[in-house]
Amino acid sequence: MHQDSMAVINHVDNLLKGVPIPPRPFILTELMREKQNPNVNFRRIAEIISKDVAISGSIIKTINSPFWVIRVQVGSIFQAIKLLGMQNITNMVAGLSLKNSFKIHNSKFMDFIWKISLEVALISARLAKQYTNLPPDEFYSLGLFTDCGVPLLVQKFDNYSEIFLQAHTTRKARIPLKIIENQHFNISHCRVGHYIAKRWQLPEHICRAILYHHDCRNRFSEFLGKPNKITTLLAVLKISEHISLNFNNIADYYEWNDFYKDILKYLNIDREVFEEIELNCFELLERYYDADD
Ligand SMILES: [Fe+2]
Repeated sequence: MHQDSMAVINHVDNLLKGVPIPPRPFILTELMREKQNPNVNFRRIAEIISKDVAISGSIIKTINSPFWVIRVQVGSIFQAIKLLGMQNITNMVAGLSLKNSFKIHNSKFMDFIWKISLEVALISARLAKQYTNLPPDEFYSLGLFTDCGVPLLVQKFDNYSEIFLQAHTTRKARIPLKIIENQHFNISHCRVGHYIAKRWQLPEHICRAILYHHDCRNRFSEFLGKPNKITTLLAVLKISEHISLNFNNIADYYEWNDFYKDILKYLNIDREVFEEIELNCFELLERYYDADD
């Protein structure tokens, strides 16, 4: 491994001493091992995933939700694998395993983080289908994983949630969240999230998107007309975050005003069209929650 990467890993290890780092879930290890098998088949992969009833249920519910836009209803994990393919279903399993891997109970702040992450994941999958030519499951996994560094920092620092919320909503100083976190804690949730994603062996471009997700202000103009996988992931992620925060009446989001014009240009979306997209996503989220009642 590169020396710099080792130094970063050691820094995160030292800083998080005493906080249990969630290991890669067994179901993912099994899936990855099975994928190496030259005689691998969809039936065997379906058997592994189906052992986890909660994850299987969430996969089927997500694919059948209006966010995924498929023509047929999926009734089984086997069908889901046929539709998505093995790599894509593995990405989804990783994202859906995440919440249960952290043992944090009775935290309103974490409930809020998980709620926003899920909404971002769903919206991202929908927008990916319409505005990119990359598979929606990658956007879905990124949405679920983006803030996965937060629960570890919540366990490590008593005032983390307070600083995080203040930094997210303050407009006064316009100091990037990552810098505020570094000032207070000597690390950011982007760096910790990247560390977890690497340990779980997520695809490299998803790991990098997690690392850069609060450090991408100039990226969209730099890559204008030169589509780039990580930039496309980040563009859709940032739009989806904005829509989810607005849906939850948290509108004062400091990053959005800085770069939304560049993001819309990068994805070739008109301002008026964006307003329609946002209204449409609000409607889909309402339908998604109504279906739970
Ligand atoms: Fe974040």
